[in-house]
Amino acid sequence: MCGIFAYTGSKKAIPILVDGLTSLEYRGYDSAGIFTPADGVFKAVGPVVELRKLLPENANGTSGIAHTRWATHGAPTAENAHPHADQNEILYLVHNGIVENYKELKEELLKAGHTFKSQTDTEVLAHLLGVERGTASSMDEALESTLQKVRGTYGLAVIEKAAPSTIYAAAMGSPIAIGVGENEMCIGSDATAILRVTKQIIYLEDGEFAKITPQNYEIKTLDRKITTRAPEEIEWDADTIKKNGFDHYMLKEIMEAPEVLENSARGRLLLTEGRANLGGLAEHEKELQNIKRLVIVACGSAYYAGVYGKYLIEEYAGIPVEVAIGSEFRYRAHIPEEGAALLAISQSGETADTLASIKEAKRRGILARGIVNVVGSTIARETDLGVYKHAGPEVGVASTKAFLSQMEVLALLALYLGRQRHLSVERAIELGKAIAELPTQAAEILSKHEEVKVIAEKYKDVRDMLYIGRKYNFAGAYEGALKLKEVSYIHAEGYGAGEMKHGPIAMIDPLFPTLAIVPDDAVFEKTISNIEEIKARKGPVIAIATTGNTQIKELADDVLWIPKAIEPMAAILAIIPMQLLAYYVGVAKGYNVDRPRNLAKSVTVE
Ligand code: AGP
Ligand code: GLU
Repeated sequence: MCGIFAYTGSKKAIPILVDGLTSLEYRGYDSAGIFTPADGVFKAVGPVVELRKLLPENANGTSGIAHTRWATHGAPTAENAHPHADQNEILYLVHNGIVENYKELKEELLKAGHTFKSQTDTEVLAHLLGVERGTASSMDEALESTLQKVRGTYGLAVIEKAAPSTIYAAAMGSPIAIGVGENEMCIGSDATAILRVTKQIIYLEDGEFAKITPQNYEIKTLDRKITTRAPEEIEWDADTIKKNGFDHYMLKEIMEAPEVLENSARGRLLLTEGRANLGGLAEHEKELQNIKRLVIVACGSAYYAGVYGKYLIEEYAGIPVEVAIGSEFRYRAHIPEEGAALLAISQSGETADTLASIKEAKRRGILARGIVNVVGSTIARETDLGVYKHAGPEVGVASTKAFLSQMEVLALLALYLGRQRHLSVERAIELGKAIAELPTQAAEILSKHEEVKVIAEKYKDVRDMLYIGRKYNFAGAYEGALKLKEVSYIHAEGYGAGEMKHGPIAMIDPLFPTLAIVPDDAVFEKTISNIEEIKARKGPVIAIATTGNTQIKELADDVLWIPKAIEPMAAILAIIPMQLLAYYVGVAKGYNVDRPRNLAKSVTVE
């Protein structure tokens, strides 16, 4: 998500900077910008091609900084796009990350008479640096004193008009690397951009600063020693780098689960109070307190997340929830009722069927909010937002990390709504702590991904597969089946475990395996009975079960283990082995799991 590229050398900078931004496009972003001291600042919303349209043909600057933004503070607009200048426009800065204490810093600067052009936290950083630059003896010193005042994460690059061929960089929680060329240097968020200039790369460690000129670079280490540590050679090609070394984006994104589950809850869990702090809902708190019924509208995986959310919100918040498929909602007779609200769930924020339902709901005077992943997307704007997932861009067409994030955000929403109503502090704290456990538990499951690969090899040639689950795992059964369908083209059906007896069991035979989601929970025994009914008909069974359960080990043909967790959280963890299973089956069958046939990442047609 988001990207930085900066260059200083003897060649014209703008074409190189645009090239660098283009290679960072895969990271996802919503706007982009460039500054060179010789040519000025240019910013545009949308893809880099929009920025290209603004750039002067006769640009002659040989140094500059560039940025692709994934908005966190302030919508994706040209004003909010980076680079940002300080009050006196003596320097320009680009930044990846979040300045968590930007509000208090901004208040101080406003009191000192500063005026801001954007709503971003980044512009506050630029203004702060401008102030420090006014009293420090060097930019190094100014940068160091500025960043001591900052809480949060940053990867940044800075250039000042008075020293156009020198560029500074710093890293804390967001990657920054230096490219060491012949009489030219560059700075980038990852090697794909650096590769445009050189294969010689040096990654900054968190807390380090760097200063580059066309002929030289120096790094100030954490203990403030100056070093020119030797660069290493970039071995990977650009495409492999974008996948972070994984064979496919889908596997990369499945492996990001711990980070995503961390990020989607970051700053939102007040553990000791057992509360969720959902900034995007703050101004709607009263309205949400008064809702009497929730209608969740979504499509595909997002719809299954909504079904999961139904169980959660009804159990923890006591609000009746209906889940409607985006393409069907608008055909329903409208029964006006007090206190109904609509919640749209969408990774892309552009799904036409979901959007159509939001518009229909608003036409009917129903309050509409959204849970989306893409900042500034159409659905985010149509629903006055609601909650961003912060799952980062999802490149694989089959949704993986974004789906987990949807489930987690729904758990946070259930906590939020529950504490507005009658949810006890004890149960709320229990749910909050269980949510906070997810990243570690997800990492534990992912560490055993090779075991899933073995099982995938065993079942990759089946023609059909049944997925069953109960209660919180009912939705997971449908989602697991959808994943397998999407990336392996095997006919897979999700079904309620209890419902399986009312028809689908007729299909079961030795060639028709079933995946049963059966963690240690209140419906374990009942699901075991369903598994026994399948085994009695010689149906192979893959079970997703809680580590240590010996009973299932005897009964199932294969078991994928997940750590012990409270029911709603076990349901989130159970998704991960099913994502891995679908991935490895698809790969074993030789399909393009990142771009499955007939599918689009964002279905913008009805
Ligand atoms: C998920 O793997 C599918 N690609 C698809 O079902 C997707 O979830 C659906 O199209 C909804 O997309 P959205 O979340 O972007 O609205
Ligand atoms: N927080 C900054 C902003 O919202 C940077 C976001 C990013 O990493 O692109 O502009």
